[in-house]
Amino acid sequence: MVKLTIDEREITVEEGATILDAAKLAGIKIPTLCYHKRLNPIGSCRMCVVEIEGLPNPMTACTTPVAEGIKVVTNSERLQRMRRETLKLMLVNHPLDCPVCDKGGECSLQDLVYEFEIETAEYRAEKKEREAIYATPLIRYWPDRCIMCLRCVAACRDIKALGAIDIVGSGFGAGISPVNKEKCESCGECIKVCPTGALTENLSRYKGRTWMVNRVKTTCAYCGCGCQLELNVMNNRVIGITTKDDDEVNRGSLCVKGRFGYEFIGSEERLTKPLIKRDGKFHEAAWDEALDLVAERLTAIKTAAGSDAIAGLSSARCTNEENYLMQKFLRAVIGTNNIDHCARL
Ligand code: FES
Repeated sequence: MVKLTIDEREITVEEGATILDAAKLAGIKIPTLCYHKRLNPIGSCRMCVVEIEGLPNPMTACTTPVAEGIKVVTNSERLQRMRRETLKLMLVNHPLDCPVCDKGGECSLQDLVYEFEIETAEYRAEKKEREAIYATPLIRYWPDRCIMCLRCVAACRDIKALGAIDIVGSGFGAGISPVNKEKCESCGECIKVCPTGALTENLSRYKGRTWMVNRVKTTCAYCGCGCQLELNVMNNRVIGITTKDDDEVNRGSLCVKGRFGYEFIGSEERLTKPLIKRDGKFHEAAWDEALDLVAERLTAIKTAAGSDAIAGLSSARCTNEENYLMQKFLRAVIGTNNIDHCARL
């Protein structure tokens, strides 16, 4: 264990922890942007600078390991001035389009700019039109909103083990690009970790602001993994999916189906009434009529050919309870073990 002092408070942490870890443990808040608990320290944004007694220059708390006896200051006039200047530099090319940005209301950059009371983008650079290129029609990259924190690049490489995106260019022209386009799975991990609105999804645009939606926690129904997600509901329609880093099972990650495959829920093409085929054509029917027909036909097959002439194929898109009922129906009512489920495929 290592003992150190942060803001005059003595803290004991495990060896190998960073100053940021120690501060968090003690409930001391240090502003961060590129730090993400699921990623190795990146150290790109410089918001987490702290002073260490005896060192001439501030160090980044997220990348500096603790050492026995060091004395750390997290909040001084010099540090606040440096953080303010850092934020101003991040705004050099930023369009300040928060009113139409999908991330408005839950953007870490917006929160820090507000906290530091930065009212105007003081520094400007020559405006360059930059193309919003990305590997997938589901995800949009907004180069001018990007603060080059590199969380998206690190998450694509280290969490998803894909390495589909990376930085290209340098200086003001630098941006994120799908350098290995064929590896992109459109999982949206990059959107999930982006601390600003530089990466957004195309499906939910202009459908509802973050503070207008009701977030309903549920389990993804696409396969048997049990990933946790939140349906973003507005006016009784699902307009997006979000996740939480602390959720068990998936810790905020999803695959492309879980993150973007929600439009079927409110689709006009969903069947809402039973259909019975007569003379080669489907006709809408009442539930009683349809259920009577199914019961009659199943009974006829069972009588003529035995229970094992019938099989049931259940679905990963049903709930656990619905799948249970299906197997119970096949085993206990029909009398066969011919029951299967698509999730194992
Ligand atoms: Fe430490 Fe970005 S949070 S450098």
